[in-house]
Amino acid sequence: MKHVIGVVRSLWHEPRPPDPPRRVWRDWALVGVLVPVAVLEGVRGADLPSVLLTLGLIPTLLWRRTRPLLMLVIAFGATSLATRSERSAWMSRMDRQQISHLAHRDHPIAAPVSGAHVTRLLRRARLPEGARILDLGCGEAAWTLRALALYEDATADGVDISAEALRAAEEHADRQGLWERIRLHEKPAADFPVAETYDLVLCVGATHAFGGLRATAEHVRRYLKPNGLALIGEGFWEREPTPDALTRLGASPSDFFDLPGTVALAESCGFDTVYAYTSDLSEWDDYEWSWTGTLLRWANEHPGPDADTVRAAAREHRDMWLHGYRGVLGFVTLLLQRQGSSQ
Ligand SMILES: C[S@@+](CC[C@H](N)C(=O)[O-])C[C@H]1O[C@@H](n2cnc3c(N)ncnc32)[C@H](O)[C@@H]1O
Repeated sequence: MKHVIGVVRSLWHEPRPPDPPRRVWRDWALVGVLVPVAVLEGVRGADLPSVLLTLGLIPTLLWRRTRPLLMLVIAFGATSLATRSERSAWMSRMDRQQISHLAHRDHPIAAPVSGAHVTRLLRRARLPEGARILDLGCGEAAWTLRALALYEDATADGVDISAEALRAAEEHADRQGLWERIRLHEKPAADFPVAETYDLVLCVGATHAFGGLRATAEHVRRYLKPNGLALIGEGFWEREPTPDALTRLGASPSDFFDLPGTVALAESCGFDTVYAYTSDLSEWDDYEWSWTGTLLRWANEHPGPDADTVRAAAREHRDMWLHGYRGVLGFVTLLLQRQGSSQ
């Protein structure tokens, strides 16, 4: 039995023994014959296909020996045919999370809402003493850190899948002296356990974490105390999107509703809209110019393959915004109250 296992193992795992040297000489001998034949054919005016056929036999016969060389030729060919930005993307180490983190350096609120309006919405929430806050898709936790600064005895949980954003959230919390009152969780928002109840649950610009507004509102409700509050920030169609805008956005008309439809949908999940803020065009502009401008500036100041990737991401995003959703996509942050009597 041991012998059989040994044989099977050796079939699967043992490296193939090296070719006997005789084989090497035979291969090279064939090359030695075929090359002059091809040259002769060329000199004697043989037609191109037969010369190519003869030359083609060489790499076929020598496949094992020429493979590294052929790989090199293919890689070189692909590299020289690729555009500059494709080449940079291959060499760059930047991923989407890192680019997004960089893009928000000058606008840590990852939504088209100004700091003043974030404060206004949070003040309007009028949280009770010792309030508990949950932020689903918290990003760098700009909203929650502001809430903790406003409500000095509140505590919070922030959930996000981006390690990069959570690292930044931790740094901001440290710098603002709020680290003792916030716990950060790196996991999908939908997996955050419904173990405790909260006075305020935020989900701003992150409804895609649950698959849309309805699923988000239904999910958020489960974490809330009766009469608890939710701050849900969501896009809506400010105007009917043109087919071109939809193509650039990679969206379909049913991805968002208009403003009345958005409010109605949220309320149909057992909420009342007790306040809301609709972002204006200057907030959108500030957000988008920050996003794209910060990236372009970084690219200029850090030349190299990463800079090319970052510049390409900024330009692609700016095109999508300027030619696609500027003035078409709106953003509303709804302050919703869970209806006390409904389950
Ligand atoms: C547009 S940002 C909004 C961040 C923050 N709410 C704010 O307004 O500043 C969306 C955030 O959702 C996070 N996200 C995306 N999918 C997620 C998921 N399945 N679970 C948790 N977070 C998610 C992203 O990493 C990103 O930080």
